[in-house]
Amino acid sequence: MDTPESPGQDARTIKIAHLSDVHFGRIAHPDVVDAIIDDVNGAAADLVVVSGDFTQRARTRQYRAAATMLASFDVPWLVVPGNHDVYPWWRPVSRLVNPLRRYRRWITANLTPSFVKPGLAVLGINSAFGWTVKGGRIVESQRAAMRAFFGGAQEGAFRVLVVHHHLTQLDALGRHDLARQAKDTLNCAAEMNVDLILCGHLHVSHTSHVEVVPNGHGLVVATAGTATSDRGRKKFRNTNFYTQISINDEAFEIAERQFNPDLVQFEEVRRESFQRCR
Ligand SMILES: [Fe+2]
Ligand SMILES: [Fe+2]
Repeated sequence: MDTPESPGQDARTIKIAHLSDVHFGRIAHPDVVDAIIDDVNGAAADLVVVSGDFTQRARTRQYRAAATMLASFDVPWLVVPGNHDVYPWWRPVSRLVNPLRRYRRWITANLTPSFVKPGLAVLGINSAFGWTVKGGRIVESQRAAMRAFFGGAQEGAFRVLVVHHHLTQLDALGRHDLARQAKDTLNCAAEMNVDLILCGHLHVSHTSHVEVVPNGHGLVVATAGTATSDRGRKKFRNTNFYTQISINDEAFEIAERQFNPDLVQFEEVRRESFQRCR
C-alpha cells in the first residue's frame, strides 16, 4: 500500500487498545496482567477492545480474574466471547443449553456490543457457540445487526468490527480456523464499508490488508496474539502481545506491543500504517 502520513497524536486522533485471548487459567508470567493494565492505561485510549477467550475453561475463578482486569481499565471497553468462554465439553448440557452463562454473568450480557463517538463506530459480534467445538459461527441475524449498526453510523466514521474468529483465510498464516458463514459475514462487512476487523483465536500477531470479492472494498484484518497467556503459537510461542490503533481522517496505524519479561513491561516492536478508504 501507499505509505500514508502518520496519524500522529493530534487532538483528532482516536486510539483503540486491542487485546485478545487473555486466557485466565493459563497466565504466562506473574506480572503480565498488571503490566498490560499499566500499559493500556498509559496509552490513554478511547476504547479497550478484547476479542474473546477471556478464560481457559470458563471456570468461575477465571472469569472473576477477567472481570477484575476489565474493571482496572480507565476507559470504556468493548468485548466479545471466544470459544474458550463457553462451558467445556465435559459440561455438555450446560454447553448446549446456556453456553455463555458465566460470560453473561461475569463479563457482560450484551453479545452485540457497540461503541460510538464522533469519527468512530465499533460493533462486536459473538462467534462462540456451544455446539461448535473450536471453530465459530455467525448467523444471518448477526449480519442484519451489522447492516443496521453500520448503516446508521456517522458518514466518514472509522468502522470497526470485532469478532473472535477469523472471516477469511490469510495466506501468511497457513490454513486456519474460520467461523461458519465467514464468507457471507466478510462480504457483509465489505458492503457496510468496514475499515478494520479486530480478531484473535489463532494466538499469532498479524495484520493483513484484504480486498473483498465481490465488491472490491479493501479492509484490514488485525489479529492480536495472546495478550497474557502461555498459549502463543508458532514463532509467537512464549510471547504476549496487544496492539494500539491510532486513527485520523486520512490514515490509521497499528502498533504491536510485546511483553518484555526482563523489564516487566510492554514495548513497541512493530508498526504498520494504512491509508483509509474514503
Ligand atoms: Fe484463544
Ligand atoms: Fe479461540
